[in-house]
Amino acid sequence: MNKEVKYSCPSNIALVKYWGKKESGTQLPANPSISWTLNDLRATTRMVISPVVNGESPTVKFYLANKEKPSFLPKIETFLKRVTPEFGWISEHHFEIYSENNFPHGAGIASSAAGFGALASCLVALDGQWEESDPVFWEKASKFARLGSGSACRSVYNEPGLWGEFEEVLESTDDFAIPYSGSIHPNLQGWKDAVLIIEDGEKSVSSTAGHALLKEHAYAEARYKQAHKSLSALLSSFKTGDVQQFIEIVESEALQLHAMMMSSIPYYVLMKPNTLEAIEKIWKHRNETLIPMCFTLDAGANVHLLYDGRYHEQIQNFINTELLPYCQNGLYLCSDTGGKPIKL
Ligand code: DP6
Repeated sequence: MNKEVKYSCPSNIALVKYWGKKESGTQLPANPSISWTLNDLRATTRMVISPVVNGESPTVKFYLANKEKPSFLPKIETFLKRVTPEFGWISEHHFEIYSENNFPHGAGIASSAAGFGALASCLVALDGQWEESDPVFWEKASKFARLGSGSACRSVYNEPGLWGEFEEVLESTDDFAIPYSGSIHPNLQGWKDAVLIIEDGEKSVSSTAGHALLKEHAYAEARYKQAHKSLSALLSSFKTGDVQQFIEIVESEALQLHAMMMSSIPYYVLMKPNTLEAIEKIWKHRNETLIPMCFTLDAGANVHLLYDGRYHEQIQNFINTELLPYCQNGLYLCSDTGGKPIKL
């Protein structure tokens, strides 16, 4: 009997960055991180399983936007293999996986967080041991998403996803992300993200290769320490609503991530001239208008403009008049923060 299930899952943007993995274990972070999910940037995945019969070998087929993509199979097969110790039935089934993103493919947006979040949610639902109302459902989804791509584990909660052992939050763990349950001041609720597509296409260094650069990195230990400090200060800004402090941490985290990349061997400069132009404009506009806004970056050239949603109109105007010239093909994508996987 075939069984199937379909989930959509949001992408996420880190406020304190995961950059570097522990030497031991599988996909364990060298430092704690926290992110907001991006409700409007989603992957939707339909997973169909059928039992293996007559000694057949199990097969996996993957389709992105209805096109078969064998190039994605190595990552997906590794992912399924890593989950098999917990869900033995995986090795006794054929898989057909149909995935699509609601943002343009090749827009330079990391789709792996949304993609693995959706895949992991499908697996936990197919397994059937837990209801969505049981927190264990989401712990498992987060853990399995992590085994596909580390940052994906933070994509399964409405609340900010906190991943990695952190001394100030007792329940925090490297194994899966947890929903941040502390208070969040109204000043830091309802923020939005406008992703300025500075450059579309493949990244010049994959995140997985990027993480590996930390192994021999002269500044790795200092960076990990700094991430703990950043997280502590960020959580304090959540509580107090100190937007200045929030902005300082988020921007510093983005620049630290890039600084680590620039100071590794081999070294990479992932920002483009237009990345810096956009950042300068954001700073200038913030100084002039005092609108609560800041930038962050992932491991690429695109700029995430985070802003208080109450200023949506003004920010749209600002983007359209001042930032579009720096966006490739005038493309930017807007999203609310928050949101979690949805069963379809
Ligand atoms: C720069 O999760 O993509 O976006 O675990 O190797 O799949 P793997 O890497 P990935 O790393 C993303 C790192 C980052 C920062 C972050 O999201 O915290």
